[in-house]
Amino acid sequence: MKSVCIYGYGGPEVLVYEDAPRPHPDAGEVLVRVHAAGINPVDWKIREGHLKEMLHHTFPLVLGWDVSGVVESLGTGITRLKVGDEVFSRPDIARDGAYAEFIVIKESELALKPKSVDHIHAAALPLVGLTAWQTLFDAGGLSAGQRVLIHAAAGGVGHVAVQLAKWKGAHVIGTSSARNHEFLRNLGVNQVIDYDTERFEEVVQPVDIVLDTMGGDTQERSWKVLKPGGILVSIASPPKAETAAAHGVRQAFVFTQPNSTQLAEIAKLVDAEKLKVIVETILPLSDATRGQELSQRGHGRGKIVLRVVYPQ
Ligand SMILES: NC(=O)c1ccc[n+]([C@@H]2O[C@H](COP(=O)([O-])OP(=O)(O)OC[C@H]3O[C@@H](n4cnc5c(N)ncnc54)[C@H](OP(=O)(O)O)[C@@H]3O)[C@@H](O)[C@H]2O)c1
Repeated sequence: MKSVCIYGYGGPEVLVYEDAPRPHPDAGEVLVRVHAAGINPVDWKIREGHLKEMLHHTFPLVLGWDVSGVVESLGTGITRLKVGDEVFSRPDIARDGAYAEFIVIKESELALKPKSVDHIHAAALPLVGLTAWQTLFDAGGLSAGQRVLIHAAAGGVGHVAVQLAKWKGAHVIGTSSARNHEFLRNLGVNQVIDYDTERFEEVVQPVDIVLDTMGGDTQERSWKVLKPGGILVSIASPPKAETAAAHGVRQAFVFTQPNSTQLAEIAKLVDAEKLKVIVETILPLSDATRGQELSQRGHGRGKIVLRVVYPQ
């Protein structure tokens, strides 16, 4: 099969597009024929070795942990899925990823893909959808009528988080550059803040939840906009418990986990037209390097997806 892998950590030049053996599913696993693989910042962070203390990968390593495709074959003990099912997943990040024609995924990490969208859009959704769900709902406990500030609201995570928060009935405030203001208003953001010309902590009324996608200075300045007892949920860098306590608020760090039940809920929302994923760039699998370089610039709107094409 064709795949994009790395033989060691490094820059975009370490990505290799090559033929590799097709993997085989063991008990509880499914072989999926990949139709599309989403690109996320974690792909190039792993490529550069930033997560090597946490994840003990072996080489060659296939990158990419967002996928939509079709069940090709089953390992033993599979009860929920059958050959031919259209599925999507954010598979285990400790194993080979989805920049390939085939990937083996645990059944517990797969859900049926939304019926109303193609594989490209389904592949853009699992990682950012689960991240938005687990930060806003599991960690943040967001409920109707609450106020939430979402940093990088036009990005992969942000634009899905905006829609999930609106679906819950929250008042949503989002930061972006001016280029994305119209986009965010169209998604339903109630207050759009230009991070180039405004200091969000000077213009935001107190909020119940901050979704911190940036870390650093953005996280530091976010403490002040929380209501007493509010919560800062970060996916960028672990917030300090002492700082939270000093501000009379709470904090959480989320590292997104695979979850087929939540994925099925996300698929339902897509099919009910309550959630749409925006794909800004579609590239062939062989162009993964370009896709990662674009992602690494950090100013995309929505998502970048690799398409896998098979000869007819
Ligand atoms: N912990 C986890 O499990 C987890 C899960 C998912 C993601 N993450 C991390 O979360 C971060 C965001 O992920 P993503 O997929 O959403 O990335 P992304 O799609 O690459 O984010 C790009 C967005 O960031 C915005 N942006 C850049 N600088 C900004 C600033 N100073 N203030 C506000 N917005 C800014 C850009 O808006 P403009 O174009 O308007 O500048 C762009 O829309 C990444 O670091 C990723 O690794 C962590």
